[in-house]
Amino acid sequence: MGSQFLLVLLLALCFSFASAHSPEQDFCVAIPEPNDAIFVNGKFCKNPEAVVAEDFFLSGLNIPGNTRNKVGSNETQATVNELPGLNTLDISLVRIDYAPHGLNPPHTHPRATEILVVLEGSLYVGFVTSNPKNRLITKVLVQGDVFVFPVGLIHFQLNVGNTSAVAFAGQSGQNPGVITIANAVFGSNPPISDDVLAKAFQVDKKIVDYLQSQF
Ligand SMILES: *[C@@H]1O[C@H](CO)[C@@H](O)[C@H](O)[C@H]1NC(C)=O
Ligand SMILES: *[C@@H]1O[C@H](CO)[C@@H](O)[C@H](O)[C@H]1NC(C)=O
Repeated sequence: MGSQFLLVLLLALCFSFASAHSPEQDFCVAIPEPNDAIFVNGKFCKNPEAVVAEDFFLSGLNIPGNTRNKVGSNETQATVNELPGLNTLDISLVRIDYAPHGLNPPHTHPRATEILVVLEGSLYVGFVTSNPKNRLITKVLVQGDVFVFPVGLIHFQLNVGNTSAVAFAGQSGQNPGVITIANAVFGSNPPISDDVLAKAFQVDKKIVDYLQSQF
């Protein structure tokens, strides 16, 4: 497992020089009075004199996430929220576990491209290009295979094997963000009006209400 971790980390490091600076959170509304400000971009910086090795360290990514949930997958993050030393560095890491036939459902990362490597199992992966073509690009990956999900595009991974699968992914953002399509559209808080969703999806409102009741 040691050399596999090294491979993942090397892949992740490739991002650090390639990525442009991006917003580090969903939004950062300007205010006129700096005394009331919470942060500028990303997080506050610790005094460099006070920095210790632990600030750049995280353990436990050898432990599988619990996949006993509706979709059968689990993400263990190593973003700036778990690893403060990542602040301003435009890079992070995630471990993804998949139960047999488990799904990492269609989602986007608004602030990161993702490069994924399969350590165990086989995954059917794909992403959809922007409007108007919405071209679906897919591939079945096995152990050792690497695949890229470009920033912002909807993507997914399905475990097509009869065993558990594990992947790691480097992400070109310290706080990539995740928008799971089904949850965001049908499970928002408060719910999006079924007038809106019935027209958007060109279905009866009853179908929308049913889908909303699943979240
Ligand atoms: C993912 O796994 C962790 C650790 O086992 C667990 O605490 C968490 O609830 C799981 N998340 C989901 C969505 O199942
Ligand atoms: C998965 O299990 C099913 C049912 O037992 C079997 O038909 C199939 O060949 C298995 N697939 C693999 C890849 O082992």
